[in-house]
Amino acid sequence: MRRSIIAANWKMHFDMERAVEVARQMVEKVKSDSEIIVCPSFVFLDRLSGIFLNSQIKLGAQNMCFKEEGAFTGEVSPIMIRGVGCEYVILGHSERRHIFGENDVDIHKKVVSAIEHELKPIVCVGETLSERNNGKAFDIVERQIVSALDGVDLDKVVVAYEPVWAIGTGVAADNKTITEMHKFIREMVGDVSILYGGSVKDTNAKELAEIEDVDGFLVGSASLDAGKFSKIAEEFDKVKGGK
Ligand code: 13P
Repeated sequence: MRRSIIAANWKMHFDMERAVEVARQMVEKVKSDSEIIVCPSFVFLDRLSGIFLNSQIKLGAQNMCFKEEGAFTGEVSPIMIRGVGCEYVILGHSERRHIFGENDVDIHKKVVSAIEHELKPIVCVGETLSERNNGKAFDIVERQIVSALDGVDLDKVVVAYEPVWAIGTGVAADNKTITEMHKFIREMVGDVSILYGGSVKDTNAKELAEIEDVDGFLVGSASLDAGKFSKIAEEFDKVKGGK
């Protein structure tokens, strides 16, 4: 179902004390018509689940193992993250693909497993700069989507377009690039929420929200600051909140 979502990806930031502090600030500051999701590191999930309990903020993990349990040293299962209150899980983030070598097959297995365990995957797709420069951006995104969502009930997923070259640079992709790619993704996935990610800030959120097929954001750096994150949600809502 297509709806507005603003999600925070805290990546590998904070210690427990700071995570709790920012989570509390978020509960206080964020008032939004959109669905708000915070995805902290695994080790903070249980604690933050209690903090978000009576708020509008939902909890998500940043990754998971496709298996339920067993001899998988260092992995975290869907049952475990569901058990500590997660409703969402980010899958296929470009940092997982490019730093930790996850491929389309791995990501598809995780998407299927997440849905089986009643977790809603936020499936990340996006091309690198060299792929874009070589005219392959649409082919890459198509391949990532077709593979990740093969045989999957589209009602149960969220897609995030995150061009790798716009992540962590402070400069979001330009309006034309986002418009074209979101339209392209829309043709493939229909009524699924399509988020944009890559240097979303309080200062560019309104402009990005105005792009037709942008249903929300996946925010990295700016989500580490509760004030900036709540402003991003506010700016988005002014344009599209509650839709
Ligand atoms: P930044 O907002 O820091 O560019 O990160 C985007 C991202 O990777 C969110 O998943």
